[in-house]
Amino acid sequence: MEAESTALVIFGSTGDLAHKKLFPALYRLFNDNNLPSGLKIIAISRQAINTESFLEPLLPNIAEADKERLEQFLNKISIVACDIKEQSSFDNLYNAIQGVGRTIYYYAIPPSLFGELTKRLQVSKCITETSRVVVEKPLGHDLKSAQKIHQDLTCRLNEEQIFRIDHYLGKEAVQNLIALRFGNAILEPLWRAARIRYIQITVAESVGVDDRADYYDRTGALRDMVQNHLLQLLCILAMEPPAKLSPDSVRDEKLKLLQALRIIRGHEVLEKTVRGQYVGSDSVACRSYLDENGVSDHSQTETFVAVKAEIDNWRWAGMPIYLRTGKRLQAKQSEVVIQFADVPINLFKTSGSHMLSNRLVIRLQPEESIKLFMNAKIPGRGMGIESNALNLDFNHSARSRRWTAYERLFLDIFNGDLTLFLRSSEIDAAWNWIDPIIDGWEQHMPKPERYLAGSWGPVASDQLLAKDGYIWFNTGGF
Ligand code: BG6
Repeated sequence: MEAESTALVIFGSTGDLAHKKLFPALYRLFNDNNLPSGLKIIAISRQAINTESFLEPLLPNIAEADKERLEQFLNKISIVACDIKEQSSFDNLYNAIQGVGRTIYYYAIPPSLFGELTKRLQVSKCITETSRVVVEKPLGHDLKSAQKIHQDLTCRLNEEQIFRIDHYLGKEAVQNLIALRFGNAILEPLWRAARIRYIQITVAESVGVDDRADYYDRTGALRDMVQNHLLQLLCILAMEPPAKLSPDSVRDEKLKLLQALRIIRGHEVLEKTVRGQYVGSDSVACRSYLDENGVSDHSQTETFVAVKAEIDNWRWAGMPIYLRTGKRLQAKQSEVVIQFADVPINLFKTSGSHMLSNRLVIRLQPEESIKLFMNAKIPGRGMGIESNALNLDFNHSARSRRWTAYERLFLDIFNGDLTLFLRSSEIDAAWNWIDPIIDGWEQHMPKPERYLAGSWGPVASDQLLAKDGYIWFNTGGF
């Protein structure tokens, strides 16, 4: 932990992200004595507001808190009135950070304001060379708008000052993928197309769009989830071993992987992608996407997407990677399934056993586990074979409390460690792959296929795999 004092200044401190994720994570860090000593938390409010009415909406999100500790935590938060549109109001902020060694600005605001805010912070001398700025998605709607956002930030800040969050990289389970891959020598010779038939990555959600329909309807599942979270998961799974666990080594390898993704363009979208939109279902008592508040009439926004991706490099050429994500699916479940190649000949055929190939199932959420399915003899007569799982269950075996993504990411921000944050080049490379799919959809697949809420997505999603002779693993990879 750094000795100098730090101020964490949160713009957008009354928004959803701040209430639901940022303040609860800061409270947990505080409660475990993990915040840097002397940290000042400054919540920016557009208008002068009294502390009580500001803090009131925070409380339900920190429900587990001990009363006394919560009081101590809330006492650390000061509220400063500052309006992004008013240069003179930045004097209040300037005064509030006097005597502080380092300032960290969290932009929990729309990206369209990043440029203006950074300029005002600089003009008011609130930003210095040691300041850090934290931003998060949506970082663009396409490559062009993403580059404008980078430009707005990098014209006044160095790349090392910018912490671009993808909260999936803050998840313990995702970091565990790094440990699994690069901490276990037995896996490396198997970790290639020659030994693996295919990989599936599923990030399924049972929730709908809740109160975010306005944002979501302009965005859709491909931009909301695949461009960032699923591609980051894919990078961690498939990148080459980095020379070190340092920001540039890791980010260089992720970038190479993204650049090796085979572009899907034009009518190829018909063969390699699926778009879906949920319709209400009595079984899960929810309405159709089109009936959600804030969704435009006749919206063609996809709430489900599946893609057959391929990586054109030496390790992975020729092996499919199936990605899928969606809202209102049957369960909240994020899982990676790695299906290894078959044995060269099946010696157990005569026993009548249907032999399944080895499979590694890495469950990221809701609970975290890694299962390796191996074949073993059925006890008793003959040589019947059955599949059994070697099971690493982290929820029961973990020695300490599992941290939330934002706790981990906050600590890395305080410590200046950029390893789990994105570089602009990665974001551009991801858009480079996403944009042609969106163009292809506009030309060849303008309408999403309907699927029933509570199902596993549109029929076309099953057909995407069936064409290759496979099925999705929907329930724990079995
Ligand atoms: C966000 C998306 O980035 O991730 C949401 O905007 C989505 O639409 C959320 O629900 C999922 O995150 P998690 O951590 O709940 O899997």
